[in-house]
Amino acid sequence: MGLAGFALTVATTIVGVLSLNLMILGAASSGAFIKPVGKKKKEDRQRARSELWDLSQQPLPGFHHKFYQAQDGIDLHYVEGGDTSPTSPLIIFIHGFPDSWFIWHHQLETPSIQQKAHLIAVDMPGYGGSDCFPVASPSAILTSLTNFILAMKEKKTNETCILVTHDWGSVIGFRLASEVGFLFTRCIILNAIHPSLAIENMDRATSSAGKMMQTYIRNPTNLTLLRSAFTSLRPFLTQLKCSYYASIFLLPSPLARQLFKMGDFWFLRICSKLAKVRNEEIYLASSLGPSSSEADGYPSSILTRQNVNSRADGMISYYRDNLAFGKWSKPENIQLISAASETSNGFTGLLEPKPGRFACPVTIVYGARDTAFHRKFCYEGLEDYLYPTKGAGLGNFLVCFPRAGHWPMVASPGRESVDMLIEAAVDGIGGEEMKERVWAVDKDVKFEVEK
Ligand SMILES: *[C@@H]1O[C@H](CO)[C@@H](O)[C@H](O)[C@H]1NC(C)=O
Ligand SMILES: *[C@@H]1O[C@H](CO)[C@@H](O)[C@H](O)[C@H]1NC(C)=O
Repeated sequence: MGLAGFALTVATTIVGVLSLNLMILGAASSGAFIKPVGKKKKEDRQRARSELWDLSQQPLPGFHHKFYQAQDGIDLHYVEGGDTSPTSPLIIFIHGFPDSWFIWHHQLETPSIQQKAHLIAVDMPGYGGSDCFPVASPSAILTSLTNFILAMKEKKTNETCILVTHDWGSVIGFRLASEVGFLFTRCIILNAIHPSLAIENMDRATSSAGKMMQTYIRNPTNLTLLRSAFTSLRPFLTQLKCSYYASIFLLPSPLARQLFKMGDFWFLRICSKLAKVRNEEIYLASSLGPSSSEADGYPSSILTRQNVNSRADGMISYYRDNLAFGKWSKPENIQLISAASETSNGFTGLLEPKPGRFACPVTIVYGARDTAFHRKFCYEGLEDYLYPTKGAGLGNFLVCFPRAGHWPMVASPGRESVDMLIEAAVDGIGGEEMKERVWAVDKDVKFEVEK
């Protein structure tokens, strides 16, 4: 580790410890440490867990629990319903931290979506009812989910495949859309940072601020230079301020685990309030996964995850193991189909595409009230990453939901707007017709980029 790396680690650790202390103060002031967990709460939580996870019941009316048994890898749990005939279009949903398949239940329960498509909501490795990798490296997670998607596509004769993702699922969605985009008709990506674009924006901000600082040192009386240096860094600093909670998950494990478990899952309760999920215990049940009473039939690591200390290790490792930026070493089967798709696209390999550039059309959505992301830092320069649809496709969109926060698919009117975007993708509709449909639900939705 170089000096800069060491300094960064020290800085992250300090921010992490300070943030954790802030969170502990927040939990303490809400009384989370002294309020005993009542009998009723315990019963509600147990009932919610069996509602969501009991394999002998339907998780939602018309839906079924299923498992994907990976040849080499780990077993994934998913929930399946809608029109499951081979000829219908396929929609695959991937949730984020600290959720599971259940966070999509509004979309899964929308009758018009159920009638139009085959719906699959998967639990990411380490989450919900899916098995867990010891380390959430890009190669482990991206390979596991890509093989899952390939297996689901094998059930179909219809070529339409739409990926809908949120938060960490969307970081994965951004990577899949650029690295194996040929799998999808469209990716609908909610509330996340595009890793390559973020790096580019960070580099641009720090190098331009650096240059201005050098000029300032030569002209120390010119305060305009100092101000401009700060201005160019501001989007990056604002994003850091938004992401401070993530620094807690980078602390040594015993500290990182605290945030998740302290005060009877105080952190999850805060998330449930922000997400506006109908009740806290359902949200906890969704995040905590099957309890030992439902564990029968699930991968064996579900039993190990009953230990409250290590419960969230698989989830937290998404922050710790460089999933956003690390290299994905693709296994042979994925390399082969990638190569085949490049040949059929007439891609010669001479023009190396910009890293992170999409290989399929995308609809990117963010909530203007999302406290975790800063728009300027996350999406400035997005145009350079879009897939050229050349008039044949229906274009790419960056969509702002003015009243939505970090979970736009849960509360109205965001959730109906998300439904409309999904249905438009299934129907192959874009442009004005798609906008009219969305505006019929929420006239304030803004289409900020259209290309
Ligand atoms: C795929 O689904 C669309 C929309 O339902 C339908 O119009 C189309 O005919 C289907 N294609 C095939 C090959 O089944
Ligand atoms: C300070 O620097 C800026 C940017 O280079 C320049 O436009 C401005 O004229 C300078 N002001 C003074 C007082 O030198």
